[in-house]
Amino acid sequence: MISVTHATGRIRPRDRDAVIQSLRAGVVPRVGQQHIQVGRVDEVTALVGDIDRIVDGGSAFRLVIGEYGAGKSFFLNLVRSIALERKLVTVHADLSPERRLYSTGGHARGLYAELMRNLSTRAKPEGGAMLPVVERFITTSLSAARSRGIDAETVIRERLSDLRELVGGYDFAEVVAAYWRAHDTGHDRLRSDVVRWLRAEFSTRTDSRKALGVRTIIDDRTFYDHLKLFARFVRLAGFSGLLVCLDEMVNLYKMSHTRARNSNYEQVLRILNDCLQGSAAGLGFVFSGTPDMLFDTRRGLYSYPALQSRLAENAFARKGLVDFSGPVLRLANLSPEDMYVLLTKLRHVYASGDPDAYLVPDEALTAFMEHCASRVGDAYFRTPRTTIKEFVNLLAVLDQNPGVNWSDLIDRIDIEQETNPDLAPLPAGDVAPPATQTAASDDDNLIHFRL
Ligand SMILES: Nc1ncnc2c1ncn2[C@@H]1O[C@H](COP(=O)(O)OP(=O)(O)OP(=O)(O)O)[C@@H](O)[C@H]1O
Ligand SMILES: [Mg+2]
Repeated sequence: MISVTHATGRIRPRDRDAVIQSLRAGVVPRVGQQHIQVGRVDEVTALVGDIDRIVDGGSAFRLVIGEYGAGKSFFLNLVRSIALERKLVTVHADLSPERRLYSTGGHARGLYAELMRNLSTRAKPEGGAMLPVVERFITTSLSAARSRGIDAETVIRERLSDLRELVGGYDFAEVVAAYWRAHDTGHDRLRSDVVRWLRAEFSTRTDSRKALGVRTIIDDRTFYDHLKLFARFVRLAGFSGLLVCLDEMVNLYKMSHTRARNSNYEQVLRILNDCLQGSAAGLGFVFSGTPDMLFDTRRGLYSYPALQSRLAENAFARKGLVDFSGPVLRLANLSPEDMYVLLTKLRHVYASGDPDAYLVPDEALTAFMEHCASRVGDAYFRTPRTTIKEFVNLLAVLDQNPGVNWSDLIDRIDIEQETNPDLAPLPAGDVAPPATQTAASDDDNLIHFRL
């Protein structure tokens, strides 16, 4: 017998449509996750603690580890939405062959640019918030200037002086100051150049010098230094801090060349050390990856001894004992009970929160689960993406064909087990490239494999 508390509360049409559309497309919703979220109480509490620490000017580092389909991306999005509520600025991206933490071929700049494209605030949760953040810095500076009876330029310079002590801070401050000049004189081109610079969209120093008079750009080498600067900057603009979410860390694990992979792991270590020592003010990181990516001592993070010792799990937290305070957060797969609650929530969201509009009774939920179990076994709740998708599809058909009975449809649902594209065997005999090979070329060699 499964006991549940039924979903309650109305749902905004915008949230409803976003959730339903994403799930039907097999992707994790970017907004409205709270309406379908199940379980994860302790995990969420742990991350809320991290967010609080960032708000207090501290730092945070978490590695969310879960099996294929366990709900990592969903969890990251959930954390991100909580951070936005707490007035943090968030950036997020999937790591990929083109987007890495370390590179000599532009891939770290590529990651930075992707992060900044996805820059979000509470008012703009779906990205593209760079301009409003910069504007906010200017308007808060203007009001400070007014209340102190001094000119804006002085206040802006004064506030930016904080950044100058950081690596790359001098030019960063110059760029923001250029925004003020553009703002003051109505120079739109200059304004958009500043935003492009901050989004790491300048690829050469020459262009940057011509457009803005600064000789540096945000590039591979300064990826992390610039995130630290940006975290300081958002606090100056009146936000509580910066949360960086990096999904699909498996893409670092898949890099075939040991040296290139290790350079990326070295960046992880640098970030981890900084965050654990609290020296990255108002900045937090949430990474996500699979157990192999962490534990594999040949290629995983554990292959890098300094990371292994810092990420080792608490030896006492075994056999049902938990510890949510370490950097590694294990995300268990959903259970059948979770799945049932999830179906009630999906039904509720589909009906825009109106129980009178539910398209199926409770029996249909159990019948649906039994049908899925008979087709794919435990996979229906362990890797729930397809289950969720098919359930929403079922609701859509019932919705549009009022004469049809749910019980006639359930047997017709064709559901197949999901396969993890990352499980293909790794090539044997992977060795470090010969010392004569240049860093640039080994860095650019990645293996892509699909089933
Ligand atoms: N706590 C949760 N509450 C409700 N739905 C969830 C929860 N966690 C995951 N889901 C749903 O389960 C499905 C799989 O989740 P998700 O895509 O986050 O898994 P993943 O671990 O990121 O998978 P992958 O390994 O493929 O990246 C998604 O449809 C998601 O919406
Ligand atoms: Mg995912």
